Amino acid sequence: MTYFENSLKTQIKKDAIILAIESSCDETACSVIKGGRQILSSEIISSVSKHIPFGGVVPEIASRAHTSAISITVDRAVKNAGISLSDLDAIAVTYGAGLLGALLVGVSYAKALAYSLDIPLVPVSHIRGHLSASYLNNENLKPPFISVLCSGGHTAIIEVKDYYTYNVLGKTLDDAVGEAFDKVARVLGLEYPGGPNIEKLALSGKNTYDFPKMPMSKFGYNFSYSGLKTAVINTVNTAKMKGEELNKADVACSFQETAIDMIVTRAIKAVKESGYKTLTVGGGVGANGCLREKLTKECEKLNINLVLPPKSLCTDNAAMIGAEGYLQYLKGNFANLDLNASANVNLQ
Ligand code: KG4
Ligand code: ZN
Repeated sequence: MTYFENSLKTQIKKDAIILAIESSCDETACSVIKGGRQILSSEIISSVSKHIPFGGVVPEIASRAHTSAISITVDRAVKNAGISLSDLDAIAVTYGAGLLGALLVGVSYAKALAYSLDIPLVPVSHIRGHLSASYLNNENLKPPFISVLCSGGHTAIIEVKDYYTYNVLGKTLDDAVGEAFDKVARVLGLEYPGGPNIEKLALSGKNTYDFPKMPMSKFGYNFSYSGLKTAVINTVNTAKMKGEELNKADVACSFQETAIDMIVTRAIKAVKESGYKTLTVGGGVGANGCLREKLTKECEKLNINLVLPPKSLCTDNAAMIGAEGYLQYLKGNFANLDLNASANVNLQ
């Protein structure tokens, strides 16, 4: 019997122990998850400091960093989970979306490990992983609910109908919100990664600039961030040309408020219109304090059950890949050893 035929015969266990690997961008991450929701361990080795001098992620550097970090991360995750490799029921791995060379490191490692242990290999979409982070350490969360996806590559309002079926109510027509944070940070002369640095700078600023908001009356649940980004760039360049002093903290604060408001208004409207009682958040921008505060306030007012994963589960991690991997494992969605990496995957 081949490896794959054997995987398909696997007896599915409700309390399966899954080792998950994530290497789509600049974090090498590995986690062990039990029964889809219990985090036994979650390890990350980041290469972010290596990219700072270049102002963004350099794919070649990211791939090399994954190659040197992956065995260490996996060993730590297994050790800290208090298990041995023979306790594992499946290996989940991010196959996309992301940087191809980076993804291939995780995919190749996962294949070798799954083959050597003769257990199923579960391919996981990074985007779905961000949304499934909300199930972690949360026994009560069950679909249907509304999810906000806000990362470096995606911004969307999603109706999660069941564990597998997503209905995208609206998404960005141009830049993702995280991308806008990163670009604005660069214009303001802040270091990569931009999002957290904008948040820090905004703390000492005021919302004094009236940046364009892309109203729901025109965009519905869709988003547009390129107009906002351009408005910020124009403000910075105009000040430079006129030789005027720019209050960068005020620019950062005004940009952040505008960018976050667009998400909050759409998310709340979607929950109200759906009649569901729950809102979840996924993606790196979910770590933003301004977003967390505004959503918490609105949801309290309206009695909406807000599931806000801890910041470490909003930004890239492998526990979320384990949570989504578990759902795919339950369905028997296994990959063969020819699994390839994909730069893009469909939101649905
Ligand atoms: O989800 P993520 O870690 O990776 C992707 O799948 O894209 O998201 C990364 C994005 C980056 O654009 C980063 O600047 C942004 O999330 N981000 C933040 C914060 N932390 C990360 N944006 C605003 N405020 C933050 N605290
Ligand atoms: Zn991500």
